[in-house]
Amino acid sequence: MSRATETKNPLGFLDEAMAQLRADGLYRSLRVLDGEQKAEATFDHKDVINLSSNNYLGLTTHPKLREAALDAVKRLGVGSGSVRTIAGTMELHMELERRIAVFKKTEAAVVFQSGFAANAGTVSSVLGKEDLILSDELNHASIIDGARLSRATIKVFPHKDVKALEKLLEETASFPRRLVITDGVFSMDGDVAPMREITSLARAHGAIMMVDDAHASGVLGKAGRGTVDHFDLHGQVDIQVGTLSKAMGVLGGYVAGSRALIEFLYHRARPFLFSTSHPPAVVAACIAAIDVLEQEPELIDRLWDNTRFFKAGLKALGFETGLSESPITPVIAGDGALAMKLSDRLFAEGVFAQGIAFPTVARDKARVRTIVTATHTRDELQFALDVFARVGRELGIR
Ligand SMILES: Cc1ncc(COP(=O)(O)O)c(C=O)c1O
Repeated sequence: MSRATETKNPLGFLDEAMAQLRADGLYRSLRVLDGEQKAEATFDHKDVINLSSNNYLGLTTHPKLREAALDAVKRLGVGSGSVRTIAGTMELHMELERRIAVFKKTEAAVVFQSGFAANAGTVSSVLGKEDLILSDELNHASIIDGARLSRATIKVFPHKDVKALEKLLEETASFPRRLVITDGVFSMDGDVAPMREITSLARAHGAIMMVDDAHASGVLGKAGRGTVDHFDLHGQVDIQVGTLSKAMGVLGGYVAGSRALIEFLYHRARPFLFSTSHPPAVVAACIAAIDVLEQEPELIDRLWDNTRFFKAGLKALGFETGLSESPITPVIAGDGALAMKLSDRLFAEGVFAQGIAFPTVARDKARVRTIVTATHTRDELQFALDVFARVGRELGIR
């Protein structure tokens, strides 16, 4: 072995990349949660008001979900032992899919290991290289990756720009298949897609309409059925993705749609075919989460009450909060290093709101993202607002 071969570290460029992130003030260490994921929680041994989880309804620790998971472990063990298409489809998986289909008012549903897998697996299998994908510029990474994997032509339309989408649809009629895809609620800005307009355009031009309702599931629509229900579009959206990992409090993603779509995904969606299915505890807890959504509508009412209170508080303090219409409210700092500093100072004062910078958001739109839940008390939210006021003034952000 030559001397040069012995000494060269082939991954040395990663050290340089990390050093650069540190120099730019963008290095982020993982906050470690001690104990349960709750509105008041302990991260890195510090008690904080938690404004960073997607646990919209507090279901991560709901007694009914906990009980269902424990019971499933006792009855069925801890693992499914296989991918769905070989030996890993348990009766519980089928029950969850039937429950989701009824809940979403569609013919059928399929469950994936995560929302990411649902988006990426669906877009990449339904579309192929001759096809076209029309995608909002702020769509989630899993949609972008699925689109790239499909090898279809991708055209990105400006955020929520219905006119631009219409023009693209008019110009691209020669593609054999076209997919229009949007997040229902945008994950970094908390605004809601103009679903009525987009769906009507997709239908008028014979395109497939798909929505990613990751942040709308359990949040918008009757009992949290999502944007399709919220905008009264049942039967008009061909592919609805939802997540079981956020408001539902557990883990997973699903696609709801026609029986043919679901059968196709059973045969072609690669995460479904090539990755082991959920363990029984996860599936049982997801079924219990649907029960809770149907039986405890007051949770969603509380989520929205808290959302209105906190959003109004941030606005009154003079923060730039963008165009949010959901429990996700960004506090935009602009510069990435400033957003990280804001997040660190908030944390030191007892409020956890994660800093988010490029490449997750545009370079000049770095922010901390806040998410309130149904389980925050008014006192907790007021405490958080007081801390925002102090730290924002200190850093010259408001
Ligand atoms: C808009 C959107 N879609 C999909 C996902 C992926 O969901 P999951 O966490 O279940 O993989 C997320 C979560 O980060 C998201 O914000």
